[in-house]
Amino acid sequence: MRFHHLKTQKIIIHLFTVLFLILIPLKIFAQDNADTIITYRQSLMYNLQRNLNSISEILKGNIDQQSHLAGLASILNISASYAPDAFKQKVPNNGKSKSKPNIWQNQDDFNLEMQSLIRETAELVKLAESNDIKAFSAQLGVVGKNCASCHKKYKNR
Ligand code: HEC
Repeated sequence: MRFHHLKTQKIIIHLFTVLFLILIPLKIFAQDNADTIITYRQSLMYNLQRNLNSISEILKGNIDQQSHLAGLASILNISASYAPDAFKQKVPNNGKSKSKPNIWQNQDDFNLEMQSLIRETAELVKLAESNDIKAFSAQLGVVGKNCASCHKKYKNR
């Protein structure tokens, strides 16, 4: 019977070794994953910024590409519509994220800000398609205020 007992002990030790070997890569994966999630949401935000810059060069008359406005506004709207998913997971801050932790304490308000951005950029697409440049410019101001309002509450400088 003693022999049998030893065998059980051996099996348990083996099980722990196997578990350990599985858990190490999982831990490394989790770390990579947090960094990737942060980079993903930041990339979406940079898309917004870049499109905003392209649009404003056209509006200032520096670039003669008015026919691009509707497409650029659509890209803004698409990026905005993906942003809520990108902020769903609270991930450990890797030192590179500017997200304030209060995002995940005030998720309803944060999502309202996001929904408002989706709505206002959809309106921008409509105005671009109707070729009303004056109304389009005014709406771009509304979108810009939306960015600033959320950043003030939820983004570190
Ligand atoms: C609902 C909230 C919200 C809205 C709306 C929003 N942002 Fe952001 N934005 C954030 C947060 C939070 C971060 C920080 C992300 C991180 O680093 O984890 C961020 C990061 C950024 C960054 C990365 C650089 C930096 O300073 O961190 C840029 C650029 C940016 N946003 C531009 C925009 C633009 C342009 C708009 C509007 C068209 C916009 N954002 C709308 C919340 C928002």
